[in-house]
Amino acid sequence: MIAMDVLTALLVASAVFAQPDKPRWEPIPICDDCVPRELIVAPGVGIDLTSSYGTAAVRFNNKSIVNIDQIYSNKKYNAIIKELSGPADPEKHPKYGNILDELRDIWRKNQRRLRKLRGLPATPEVGIIGDLIKQLRTATEARLGKPIASAVLATPRLPRVTDEDLDDAMAYAGLKNLKSYRTWTYVSEPQATFAGMGFGLCEKWGDIEKCEDEEATFPVAHVLSVTFTHDVLSATYITAQDARTVSFGRTTTRYDLGLGTWLQNSGSPTYWNEIREAIHRIAIISLPLIDYLLLSGEDATNEQFLETVKEALVPITLGNAPGIVRTSINPLHAGAEGAAEFAKRWQGGTWNCMEPPRCAGNWQPGDDGWRGSWSELRGEL
Ligand SMILES: *[C@@H]1O[C@H](CO)[C@@H](O)[C@H](O)[C@H]1NC(C)=O
Repeated sequence: MIAMDVLTALLVASAVFAQPDKPRWEPIPICDDCVPRELIVAPGVGIDLTSSYGTAAVRFNNKSIVNIDQIYSNKKYNAIIKELSGPADPEKHPKYGNILDELRDIWRKNQRRLRKLRGLPATPEVGIIGDLIKQLRTATEARLGKPIASAVLATPRLPRVTDEDLDDAMAYAGLKNLKSYRTWTYVSEPQATFAGMGFGLCEKWGDIEKCEDEEATFPVAHVLSVTFTHDVLSATYITAQDARTVSFGRTTTRYDLGLGTWLQNSGSPTYWNEIREAIHRIAIISLPLIDYLLLSGEDATNEQFLETVKEALVPITLGNAPGIVRTSINPLHAGAEGAAEFAKRWQGGTWNCMEPPRCAGNWQPGDDGWRGSWSELRGEL
């Protein structure tokens, strides 16, 4: 129990994101290039990795979504994800305080580069994660009937992972890991699930200024995200205004409380109590109310689990109008769907710049993310 408290304290300390709550003060720079029409209308692909399987989703230009079946991972993969979910490791995140650390980092980067040049994954761990991504890529391509080159990768909160590892795992699977210019970093499962339910998303993503202005008007949502699979129970408290920039609060990851534990030992008198306690300890921070409850994971529809979640929240949501707490409709795919939504927007949008007037022809009225005609937008030229 004490170890757990130390762990969550560490996570809270390392996991708070700066969240710009006001649109910017300075004008947005003009882009050098136009986003090609093919990318504006291309389907977005999302890949969601959990501790024991992966899912994928495709979000088309007409807003319809196709889900790719869950693919189970192997034991080596599961062990790596479990390791990466531990508290951050200073060795892997050097502070560059001295020349020795810097030299070590240069040596490490060189080793990775040499392995990649030989066609090997940057590290053996990257290769194992990349293998699962590759399987999801193949299944997605089979479904689409054409190759894909990029996607947004969502993973659980992994304090020990680096963006470099995840980018390399995607590259090993032949995919570019799309990012947002707002954060530059990987997408975590609570964030993807939030977006997958349609929360925190602007309408006119084709114009980053309109999008940022719109998102700045969203109320800040207090969100409890709970993932439940065969091997793990995790709960995270986040606050989110727009889905891209999310602040992470306290989190807990319990490998001893996955549904598998119950299935192996269903006489356990304490199992469901422990689940209730674990969720309650995270939820209690959000007093007085939680706006959204996001459920994800293959076992999140288990009846006994849902009942237990409800019990864990009773003291917290008491007094609120019933029905305020909303849950995801499709917990198995909610993360992949959110990642696909991000992918659609990030590949079709600009990177922190406004397109010049000559790009206007790439857009057509009625496009998803349509920002309005040029004259409407910036006045007659
Ligand atoms: C949306 O687009 C996809 C891909 O072009 C197509 O397969 C699907 O039928 C379309 N859905 C609707 C509702 O039009």
